[in-house]
Formats: sequence, structure tokens, C-alpha cells
Amino acid sequence: MTAQMKLGELKTTLNAVILAHNYQAGEVQDAADYVGDSLDLSRRAAETDADVIVFCGVHFMAETAAILSPKKTVIMPDLDAGCPMADMITAVELRAAKAEHPDATVVTYVNSSAEVKAESDWCCTSANAVGIVAATGADQILFTPDKYLGAYVQSKFPGKEFILWNGWCPTHARIMPEDIAARRAEHPGAPVMVHPECRPETIAAADEVLSTGGMIRFARETDAQVIIVGTEVGIIHRLQKENPGKEFYPVTELAVCPNMKKTDLAKVVSVLEEYSAGDTSHVIKVRGDIAARARKAIDRMLSV
Ligand code: 13P
Ligand code: SF4
Repeated sequence: MTAQMKLGELKTTLNAVILAHNYQAGEVQDAADYVGDSLDLSRRAAETDADVIVFCGVHFMAETAAILSPKKTVIMPDLDAGCPMADMITAVELRAAKAEHPDATVVTYVNSSAEVKAESDWCCTSANAVGIVAATGADQILFTPDKYLGAYVQSKFPGKEFILWNGWCPTHARIMPEDIAARRAEHPGAPVMVHPECRPETIAAADEVLSTGGMIRFARETDAQVIIVGTEVGIIHRLQKENPGKEFYPVTELAVCPNMKKTDLAKVVSVLEEYSAGDTSHVIKVRGDIAARARKAIDRMLSV
């Protein structure tokens, strides 16, 4: 029996759904029921009728799904798939910063732990960060943990004061403006889209600043036949599959997130096999009080 057939059987028996982030390996994206960005995936997790959600992405994403679907079982094929940026802030550190800036409204990027979300007023993703900051109505924003996404949002609100946490994504930090210049020379006229986790100088060198879901939509709608992509290279699989007539080139092949690559199809099948045999070691659990407080910040975001 092929891995796909085995997976189909397990999904039916367990009433399981597979959610995968746009950066996952091609074989995982192809086996998933839904592929999307962080915002799409958290909405799917909140809405699904499945009993079991297999989350193929990194830990904070599975944790967000578990917070939004407390009656469902969320499992991760590889529990070591974390996000280094999410680890750049702790709840204790955030509490200290809040004490230092008591009037600030805390907006926390979804790339963070449940404990940090629980200390935050609002959650946001790269797809909605500008809209969420507008929705807060606040004059002073403590933005955590991504200083580059925070700086990008800040550029849209000259009247507001921003305090930016010193966190960043090591994968997106590898995408440099010189790489954009080199790709533009190879593909004259091709639009360059980058993720807002990139450095400000990289963002300044691009044409479009988009979440991964925004990149999928832009690629579908643009008349351009060649597009330069400044984000984690895993997204090229979906872009190419959905737009067979167009060409996609990464700004740099170095933009690989090792954590997003920890999940493969064999692990997706084996985690479901083990779970159906009674092994619950890959189930994501969030302490009830933390989940309830984190959920307030996430629900506030989803209501905008
Ligand atoms: P998106 O929400 O745009 O998919 O980004 C998630 C992420 O981790 C980017 O590095
Ligand atoms: Fe975290 Fe960056 Fe990987 Fe996204 S690409 S999961 S922000 S390390």
C-alpha cells in the first residue's frame, strides 16, 4: 500500500484533516486537505468538523490550532519543529516590558508561544498586522516579537509610537537587497514580492510586501509571467503547481527554514498510525488558563 493510500485510510478511520503551511515540503503540501498561511490555517482549525487535526508546520501554529479547537485533538508529526523567532521572547520578559510601558497596547505576532499571547492584548499575522494595529486605536504599540514586521507596520502609522521587540526570523534575514538586484538583472521587468519578515532594506528593494497567502493571490492575479519570490523557498512548489504557465524564481536559495522541513510524508503517516494505536505523545496540549487568555488575543484578531 502506498503512503497516500495508508494516509487516506487513517484519515477516514480517525476523521482527521491535514493542514499544511505554504512552506512545507511539496509531498506534504500535496497530501494536505488545506495549504495556507498562518491566518488561513488558524481559521480552518477553528472551523473544521474533523476530530483530529494533523498540523504540518511549526509548533506555534499547532498550538494556535489547539487553542482555537479545544475539543479537537491537534497532533504534530515532528514535535521538534519550532520557530526560533517565537523563542526570542518569553512571558516573563514581556511582563517586564509591559511594566516599563504601562500605557502601551501589546500586539503580538502569531509567531509566539501561547504564554506570550496570553500576556498580549492583540494577536496578528503577517496578513493582517497593519489592519490589527489600525483596529487597536492605540497611540502607543508594544510590538512583539518581530522587529522587522513591526518596523514595516510602523511605516504605515507615522502618528503612532512603536516599541519594537528585538526578535527576527533567521531565514528571512538571509534575503538581502543585493540578491534582489541580482535576480532583477537576470529577469528584467519581473515583479519582486517579499515577506514582511524581511529586513527593511530588503523590503525597500521589493515591489510587493505580502504574507504567504498574499503571494499566492498576487501570483494568480498578476499579468506578469515571471515573478521573483522573497520568502522561504517551500512556497515555490505551490506557486508553480497553481500557475503552471508562469515562472517563479527565489530571491535566494538560502531562504530555507529548517524547522518547516522537519515534517515529511512518512512522519505524517506514522504519527497517525501511532495515534490510532493509542500513542498520544504528539498531541499538542496548552494549559487551560493560558489557553483561555491567549484565545482572547487571537479571537480579537479573528473578529477584525
Ligand atoms: P505567513 O503567515 O505569511 O504564512 O508567515 C508565517 C511565517 O512563519 C513566515 O515565516
Ligand atoms: Fe519561524 Fe522564520 Fe521559520 Fe517562519 S520561516 S517558522 S518565522 S523561523
